[in-house]
Amino acid sequence: MFSNLGLNIAFRLIEREDPKTRLTLVVTSRTLPRVREVIDQIESHVKKLKRPGIVDYDYLLVDFTDMVSVLSAYYELDKKYDAINYFFVNAAQGVYDGIDWVGATKQVCCNIIESVTNPNYRIQRVGVKSRDDLGLVFQANVFGPYYLIHKILPLLLAGKAKVVWISSLMSDPKFLSLNDIQMIKSDTTYEGSKRLVDLLHLATYKELRKDAVHQYLVQPGIFISHSFSVYLNLFTYYGMLWLFYIARWIGSPWHNIEGYKAANAPVYVANMVDPERQDLKYGSATDRNGREYIKTQEVDGTGATDVLNYIRKLTLEWDDKLKDQITNTRIPI
Ligand SMILES: NC(=O)c1ccc[n+]([C@@H]2O[C@H](COP(=O)([O-])OP(=O)(O)OC[C@H]3O[C@@H](n4cnc5c(N)ncnc54)[C@H](OP(=O)(O)O)[C@@H]3O)[C@@H](O)[C@H]2O)c1
Repeated sequence: MFSNLGLNIAFRLIEREDPKTRLTLVVTSRTLPRVREVIDQIESHVKKLKRPGIVDYDYLLVDFTDMVSVLSAYYELDKKYDAINYFFVNAAQGVYDGIDWVGATKQVCCNIIESVTNPNYRIQRVGVKSRDDLGLVFQANVFGPYYLIHKILPLLLAGKAKVVWISSLMSDPKFLSLNDIQMIKSDTTYEGSKRLVDLLHLATYKELRKDAVHQYLVQPGIFISHSFSVYLNLFTYYGMLWLFYIARWIGSPWHNIEGYKAANAPVYVANMVDPERQDLKYGSATDRNGREYIKTQEVDGTGATDVLNYIRKLTLEWDDKLKDQITNTRIPI
């Protein structure tokens, strides 16, 4: 979960906490080198803050496209902790196959802001499944994290936790068909997965609130990340960055560009006292001069119950499939 955004969520969360409080951060990634890199970065940030309270670091290797790995993550957390206070669902992946450069040029020429807010030129592969025979993006971005939350619920209840789902601006209802919730036939699986996140949040937050677990939906606007840059060379990367600044300058509130500013809304909701509107999507926004603020959006809840029913049924199926599974994939650091 420690992408550019994940790292900045950690920075901001530590900055907002009482400096005297002892904190434990559990960094998650699919790989050990990334865990080490992230812990080093957080440690050096904490040193600069000179906080008197201790920060302890732990890690969890989890791949949400592998249900045994998700289950191991649960065992690990359950074994070591009595309570969890914050849980950020930040991990996401797409199944990209490059960029349609002709389409990209056309969209940039027609509407700059739209071209770097809702790009329609990223080519996504269709029908990609995981080894668990689930839609890959569905499992990585939605079902895997949901299943982990379902398993660690007692820890979240004990910690009266804040659960924060990272959605996106690109989660329009048109990207998801309720007849294809795993998005096997879709060529907009990334966007569809974010629509599923929106609906799943709306379908579940009230029930969680009864047990003092507060769940929020946020979107980080647009910022620079690894997922952006893999298909770009130096020239196109800086071209994209330049378009981001133009978009901000001509009025887009969503071009945060920096991961730190994108992490504003996730940390804002995590610190919200006495929440009133959990049905809204809280967005990280910036004005023309790059000054940050929070901007909310309404979410269309059509289909939320259907999605929840589908996912609950799948959860029961996986509870059954995994009932005799005990694993320990932890490698000493
Ligand atoms: N960048 C943007 O402009 C933008 C806009 C809107 C929303 N978002 C959302 O913001 C969040 C962070 O985005 P980002 O751009 O910073 O992401 P990123 O750099 O692409 O990183 C994605 C993160 O997800 C983790 N991840 C991916 N697949 C995973 C899997 N199968 N199991 C476990 N972890 C997995 C990765 O972990 P490891 O690689 O370390 O294993 C990595 O930490 C995502 O939810 C994204 O959809 C981003």
